[in-house]
Amino acid sequence: MKILIIGGSGGIGKAILRHVIATFPEARIYATYRSTLPEERLADITWLKANASLDADVRQLAEKVANLDLLINAAGFLHDATNKPEKTINEFTPEFFNQNLSSNTLPTLLLAKYFSTHLKAKHQTYFVSLSARIGSIEDNKIGGWISYRCSKAALNMAVKTISIEWKFKLPNCCVFAFHPGTTDTKLSQPFQKSVPPSKLFTAEYVSQQLFNIISNVKPSDTGKFYSFNGEELPW
Ligand SMILES: NC(=O)c1ccc[n+]([C@@H]2O[C@H](COP(=O)([O-])OP(=O)(O)OC[C@H]3O[C@@H](n4cnc5c(N)ncnc54)[C@H](OP(=O)(O)O)[C@@H]3O)[C@@H](O)[C@H]2O)c1
Repeated sequence: MKILIIGGSGGIGKAILRHVIATFPEARIYATYRSTLPEERLADITWLKANASLDADVRQLAEKVANLDLLINAAGFLHDATNKPEKTINEFTPEFFNQNLSSNTLPTLLLAKYFSTHLKAKHQTYFVSLSARIGSIEDNKIGGWISYRCSKAALNMAVKTISIEWKFKLPNCCVFAFHPGTTDTKLSQPFQKSVPPSKLFTAEYVSQQLFNIISNVKPSDTGKFYSFNGEELPW
C-alpha cells in the first residue's frame, strides 16, 4: 500500500500520519511539509518539501512518488498573524481572499492534475480533500468568513468536477471531500472559546472517523462530501 499525505506537518495531517503508521505497518508512506519539518519524529515516513499551491512543486512531487493507493490533502488555511476571517464584507481584501484560494483550493486542483496516473489502478484507490462544512452553499445559514467559505466552496466544486471526469478515466478511484468538524489544531485555536467541549474534536478522533469512511466507501461513492460522522453533506 502506498499513501501520500499533503500537509503532513499540520494538526490533522500529523494525526493522519500517526494513524496510518499504526494501522498499515506495511505501507510505504510519503508526507509533505511546506515550511518546517515537524519536530515529532515519526518512523518510516518519507518527507518531501512542497508548496502545494505551486504548479512546479506539485509536478516535481509527482515525479518523486510512484503509484499510490491513497492521497489525502490535509493542507489548508484560515488565518494568520495579521488576518482573521471576515465578520462582514466590509473587511474583505483581495489579498486575504487570494491567500485562502491559494491554500484551500489550488492544491487539490494541482494534485489531481499531476497524480491522476498515480491513482489509476485495477483495485480501489482514493483521492481525499479536507474541506469544511462552511463551504457548503446549501448549508450556509449564518454568513461571515467569506474568503474561507468561498475557497472551500470552490474546493468542493473542484472535488465534484474531478470526480465526474475520473468516473471514466479512473473508474476505481473514489474522490471525496471530508469535513472534520471543529478540531483542536492551530487553525481553530482562536475560535475555540465558543465551541462546546463535546463539539471540539481531537485530531486523533477525526483521523479515525476519516478512515472509517475510507474503509466503507466504494468507487460508486465518488463525488460525495462526507462529514466526520459519515453523514453525507449537501454541496
Ligand atoms: N481544525 C478545524 O477545526 C478544521 C475544521 C474544518 C476544516 N478543517 C480543514 O482541515 C484541514 C487541516 O486543517 P488543520 O486543522 O490541520 O490546520 P493546521 O494545523 O493549521 O494545518 C494546516 C497545514 O496546511 C499546510 N498548508 C497550508 N497551505 C499549504 C500549501 N499551499 N502547501 C502545502 N501545505 C500547506 C500548513 O503548512 P505550514 O505549517 O507550512 O503553513 C499546515 O501544515 C484544512 O483544510 C482545514 O481547512 C479544519
